[in-house]
Amino acid sequence: MPFPRSPRWPKSVVGWAVDSRQKGVPFVREELRRLHKEILATLSQVSTEKEVSEVRVKSLGRKGTLTQLLKRLGSLPEADRREIGRLANEIKEDLERRIEEAISHIRERERKEALERERIDVTLPGRRIPVGTKHPITQILDEVIDIFSRLGFEVVEGPEVELDYYNFEALNIPKGHPAREMQATFFISDEVVLRTHTSPMQVRTMEKKRPPVRMICPGAVYRCDSDPTHSPMFHQVEGLLVDRGITFADLKGVLTVFVHQMFGEKTKLRFRPSFFPFTEPSAEVDIECFICGGIGCGVCSNTGWLEILGSGMVDPAVYEFVNYDPEEVTGFAFGLGIERIAMLKYGIHDIRLFFMNDLRFLKQF
Ligand code: FA5
Repeated sequence: MPFPRSPRWPKSVVGWAVDSRQKGVPFVREELRRLHKEILATLSQVSTEKEVSEVRVKSLGRKGTLTQLLKRLGSLPEADRREIGRLANEIKEDLERRIEEAISHIRERERKEALERERIDVTLPGRRIPVGTKHPITQILDEVIDIFSRLGFEVVEGPEVELDYYNFEALNIPKGHPAREMQATFFISDEVVLRTHTSPMQVRTMEKKRPPVRMICPGAVYRCDSDPTHSPMFHQVEGLLVDRGITFADLKGVLTVFVHQMFGEKTKLRFRPSFFPFTEPSAEVDIECFICGGIGCGVCSNTGWLEILGSGMVDPAVYEFVNYDPEEVTGFAFGLGIERIAMLKYGIHDIRLFFMNDLRFLKQF
């Protein structure tokens, strides 16, 4: 909005002074009143604090119209100056008061408008916040951890970027050993790998702790594998129990309890001889195929059985790396693939579904 700039005001002090001298006090009084009215008219039209401040600056500021006019009073005769000065001060005070009023009106109006805008209708139905669920792999991990915790196993965790020494060497898999081929490895450098299994934590745990040891280690592992049943990143849970007088019967007992709690009391299982360089003897645990009930089908490759984990008695060669005396203690270890268990439990044929994060899939669990 244009600010009143009276064209009738002579630009120079001299000009104005001449005018005021010639036309006298009534002229000056008239000029002041006119200016007062004009400023008030402008003030009545503004609607924001910023505009009010502009009015303040342009009228009462250092270069403001009223201030400029007051500066010119010096050219009036002294008697007139006093009278006009009083009038000018009254006008100034009036403007200051009205400017303050305008600001508080604007603030009050804005507060009311904000309250109106932000009014909450408590009768509206609430907005539903979508609640997520645990990822199926996490659910199975939790279940496995729960079962072994109840059997007295403590939970430990270890590094996913691992030394070759822990991943292979100290597990009785020296460089050049053909067993290294069983686990297609991602190498970071000659001596550092992405762990291919959770078994390195057997060694790390025994290095730190004297027997008895009873631990499980859940975590991600990596292999250069990718097909419907193999993923480059998957999860394992390692188990290790070492104490005096531990036998294969203990291994069978603990893993049978696990299978029954995980898949149901009636689930049949078998211990099938196998080989791992760090256990001797070694066994893989199979459960009866729940699709065909053991008759043989596509899911179990017509064997009637589904493999769920690898296990065995800790090889005495491993004890040498951690200074345990194999004459004094014995123990067993096992390693299970969480994705494999989840696939069996939920009848899923493609492991990649777990990692695609398609909510249509994930919401089913
Ligand atoms: C091992 O990794 C041994 N460390 C297990 C072990 C521990 C044996 C302690 C004895 C004592 P294996 O390579 O078979 O074993 O892997 C164990 C399980 O991991 C398999 O049964 C399978 O369920 C799962 N697995 C292996 N490779 C993949 C893969 N690429 N994707 C998903 N699961 C896999």
